[in-house]
Amino acid sequence: MKIAFAKPEIPASGTLVALAAEGRKLGKLATQLDKATKGAIGRALEASRFKGGAEELLTILAPAGVDVARIILAGIGAPAKYDALAAQSLGGRLVAALNSTGEKDVAVWIESFGDMKLEEAAFAANVACGARLRFYRFDKYKTKERPEQKPSLRRFNVLAADSAEAKRSFDPMDKVVDAVNFARDLVSEPANVIYPETLAAEARKLAELGLKVEVLGEKEMQRLGMGALLGVGQGSERESQLVTMQWNGGNSKDKPIAFVGKGVTFDTGGISIKPAAGMEDMKWDMAGSAAVIGTMRALAARKAKVNAVGVVGLVENMPSGSAQRPGDIVTSMSGQTIEVLNTDAEGRLVLADAMWYCQETFKPKVMIDLATLTGAILIALGTVHAGMYANDDALAKQLEESGQATGELLWRMPLASAYNKMMDSPAADVKNISGSRNAGSITAAEFLQRFVQKGTIWSHLDIAGMAWSDKDSPTTPRGATGFGVRLLDQLVRKHYEEA
Ligand code: BES
Ligand code: MN
Ligand code: ZN
Repeated sequence: MKIAFAKPEIPASGTLVALAAEGRKLGKLATQLDKATKGAIGRALEASRFKGGAEELLTILAPAGVDVARIILAGIGAPAKYDALAAQSLGGRLVAALNSTGEKDVAVWIESFGDMKLEEAAFAANVACGARLRFYRFDKYKTKERPEQKPSLRRFNVLAADSAEAKRSFDPMDKVVDAVNFARDLVSEPANVIYPETLAAEARKLAELGLKVEVLGEKEMQRLGMGALLGVGQGSERESQLVTMQWNGGNSKDKPIAFVGKGVTFDTGGISIKPAAGMEDMKWDMAGSAAVIGTMRALAARKAKVNAVGVVGLVENMPSGSAQRPGDIVTSMSGQTIEVLNTDAEGRLVLADAMWYCQETFKPKVMIDLATLTGAILIALGTVHAGMYANDDALAKQLEESGQATGELLWRMPLASAYNKMMDSPAADVKNISGSRNAGSITAAEFLQRFVQKGTIWSHLDIAGMAWSDKDSPTTPRGATGFGVRLLDQLVRKHYEEA
């Protein structure tokens, strides 16, 4: 689907979208169309429940008096409350509504309403952004789809008075959408296609954008003493990898902001094996790393004025004759020994070494890790908020606001020494499970905190409930969500880029 911006003009074919506010208040275009169609809009309103709410669409097929095949009246609700996210939802809903109709062309006529604060150019750009986000589809392995089962839209035209300005504000968003959809692809790919070496290869390709990408294999990680990460991968035929991606778009003296991702390309649980039902979901146990790789892609593609680094630990957690056993004690790069009481609590082992390496190598001013870390965060927060932990209130606030601005919501969870104590091991410095079902996401975060160096401002995002969705939402079709890319891009844009 091609996105284009143009000056407002009534098209000669396809679908034309006109806006209405709450209380059935027609916009200028809708009023004009009502006249041209001898009242078809008014009659359609009478025949429907459409009130102009921000989630409503009303389709009028084959209207007389105009050339277009279809008019869609789209609600915007209360103009004063209309914002960028609402505009993205509108773009997404239009794509969803039209893709199964056979329609190829749509034109959305952007106009401002009374006390609307969202500027027209931003309105237009966000509609286009939402349309692209919803148009995403992972269908490369579907070889037998008939044409009528495929999405029909080819052109999504956004008509705005200042179409050049709309296009300018869309350009960086377009790059972020590319990165979100790239992350979605990585998460959607099955584990026989995406495993540590192939995922590292995908990251390596991003060097094209000016990222400095380095890949460490098992030998190098052994030399660095990464016994925690290597222990997780030792049961797999696939070689574990650690990838660093650097983007130096800022001042050469500035310390970077760092993102660290859990990249378990498949999590069987290892010797503490998971039940068969639903195990296929664990192909997306690398969603944290996909969010990090996607974010680095977005920053590089839009040439963000920031120094940023992404570190992802890539392993496959398999049971085998060489797999680590419950009770094994491993030595992490930090020097701390870890008693591995459950081989299914593997993400924190991978992150322990990836985070330590990140801090030793890059001395970041801020470090944020993302991981599909615990089932317990799903029990606590479901699929609405990701769990957020932070050792710094200012960072927590920045993250929370970035979540609200992008719709990738975060809810702050507590850290406290009493939870930390639950991870003390009788045999080693720390154990990888608390042994209690209580506070499972918090104790996982406390485990990670033991690998945060003094002075590092840190946040951990437990995204286990957010990486994949069973149902469509306006800007995310069911499946891999790409969660984290928009959030972190927004965080950087708002708080870490130079003016
Ligand atoms: N990858 C899982 C967490 C997970 C579960 C993500 C469900 C998405 C959906 C993680 O490696 C894991 O297995 N965690 C265990 C920890 C437990 C053994 C302490 C869990 O949550 O059950
Ligand atoms: Mn696991
Ligand atoms: Zn896992």
